[in-house]
Amino acid sequence: MIAPCAVALLGLLGTSSIRELQETQDRGAAVADLLAARCTRCHSPGSDTPKATRHWADARDLAGTVQNEDLIVAGEPDRSNLYLAVSFEDMPPPDSGVAPLSDNEKALIADWIREGARLPATPEAEPVSAGLEAEPAIAGAEAHGRGWMQHPLVRWVSHFHPMIVHFPVALLVSSLIAEVLARRSNSSGLRAAASFCLALGALSAVPSAALGWLLAEHTSHHGRELFLHRWLGTATVVVSLVTLWLGRGRPGLRLALLLVVAGLVSATGHLGATMSYGADWLQWPR
Ligand code: HEC
Repeated sequence: MIAPCAVALLGLLGTSSIRELQETQDRGAAVADLLAARCTRCHSPGSDTPKATRHWADARDLAGTVQNEDLIVAGEPDRSNLYLAVSFEDMPPPDSGVAPLSDNEKALIADWIREGARLPATPEAEPVSAGLEAEPAIAGAEAHGRGWMQHPLVRWVSHFHPMIVHFPVALLVSSLIAEVLARRSNSSGLRAAASFCLALGALSAVPSAALGWLLAEHTSHHGRELFLHRWLGTATVVVSLVTLWLGRGRPGLRLALLLVVAGLVSATGHLGATMSYGADWLQWPR
């Protein structure tokens, strides 16, 4: 599907623009090497500077970098934070011992972004996904990703994920606490509170997860954490809705399911915090 489309596109572009494409893709390869060599120390999953990976998860992942509009706005170096950071010599940090970029290296990045921030022709031996990655770049700077999900308004709304996600987190855990206390004290007030928190928690989990899926479309966090966070979060929604549905009039089952929900909420939240603050966010301050 993708391959025939790419071939058709290349046909339309004609031979002279194919040569141009080749050149800018070579420039992409040079940029990939430059960023990997000079930025990886801090901007990569193994980095000992978690603050750096919050802005930019992996300097060796050019495809991920290009998709992060906080770093690169294809066609506009002066709106691309990655270029601005090197051109003002904020990056690499002056006291880090990593040499600042030369004027030629800065110009290379600026030219590459201006020409659409294209990926190298064959990123390391993954021919099928390489076609997938390269397609939006060939189609042009604006055609960046999946249609409506990239609409500025949709992107804006998705930024509310980290805010509203705390409603279901607190409500679902509160429901478990009220449920446990209600069983001990046999209080109908607490039982009603448990039901109320569960209903509101399960229902507010739905839009929270939906916004999470949208936010994931343009984040620089790739790989394992995002995958686990996404699916544990989705499982939280499903299990809390099931609890709401099946738990009515079955206190034992309801308590068991609420415990599962609380476990899922904790694991999902932990991964969310890991993506925001780095893997050592729980480390005790020295
Ligand atoms: C010695 C570690 C180190 C190196 C090397 C390094 N960075 Fe950074 N970078 C950081 C840290 C730390 C931050 C977070 C700064 C903050 O949040 O205060 C950061 C943040 C950034 C940001 C986000 C800045 C913003 O305001 O949005 C960009 C872009 C960036 N770095 C680009 C680069 C590029 C490009 C390179 C390689 C040429 C590079 N960095 C090399 C440590 C580093």
